[in-house]
Amino acid sequence: MFEKFSFKGAKQKNKRDNDLNKDTAKSELHIPRHIAIIMDGNGRWAKERGLPRVAGHREGMKVVKKIVREASRLGVEVLTMYAFSTENWKRPKDEVEFLLKLPEQFLTTYLKELIDNNVQVRIMGDTKQLPPHTLRAVNIAKERTKDNDGMILNFALNYGSRYEMTMALKNISEDILAGHLNVNDITEDVISNYLLTSALPDPDLLIRTSGEIRLSNFMLWQLAYTELWFTNVYWPDFNEEHLHEAIAHFSRRTRRYGGV
Ligand code: FPP
Repeated sequence: MFEKFSFKGAKQKNKRDNDLNKDTAKSELHIPRHIAIIMDGNGRWAKERGLPRVAGHREGMKVVKKIVREASRLGVEVLTMYAFSTENWKRPKDEVEFLLKLPEQFLTTYLKELIDNNVQVRIMGDTKQLPPHTLRAVNIAKERTKDNDGMILNFALNYGSRYEMTMALKNISEDILAGHLNVNDITEDVISNYLLTSALPDPDLLIRTSGEIRLSNFMLWQLAYTELWFTNVYWPDFNEEHLHEAIAHFSRRTRRYGGV
């Protein structure tokens, strides 16, 4: 299910690897194939510093870069990041506009590095509602990285699990009506194939920052057996060591998938 990763007997490359090793105690790490992250706490981070909320989002973008780099270095296969939810439209207009400029800013600034690191960029969400400039930047990044076979960086953008499931249900119904699908052939795998993550494994580890303990309409089907890890750290303060801590916790858990 996931790759075994051990530093036992290996020459430790840097301080980060040392920390990661120390965290696991038994020195055997399982690097999750798929990590999903709810990046939360940007607003509170900014407020505590007397800054506007968007300053927190800007800082959060820099953290995205750090975590993408580190996850890719560790051999994570898929990193899904919740960048904008279908509910985020309820925020003040200025904040929405700022949030929807971030993917563009991020991809323009770091596309070369993503390409150099063999990262493949994807997006999941209701892309029809996105401003053309956001969609354009994402499509360029998707196109330019489509042949990369390293880590998949999957941005959840205008994403909501209920939207995703509603669309899946509509598409299944249409396929039944068109005679492409038989009701008796509907299985869990078939439903998974109608979701926006159809080509991806389910997340092994979910990280949510900022102390909130909820899923906020994020990957509700896909998280059925995912290990959940919550931290009080605000997203702009999240760093490589926190990622290591989450992976170390994940490595110590026993996943039984309903068995014994
Ligand atoms: C939630 O924090 C965070 C978001 C709605 C946006 C997350 C986006 C980023 C971290 C940057 C995205 C970067 C790229 C490259 C797409 P909040 O504002 O709800 O925080 P609060 O709960 O403290 O108010």
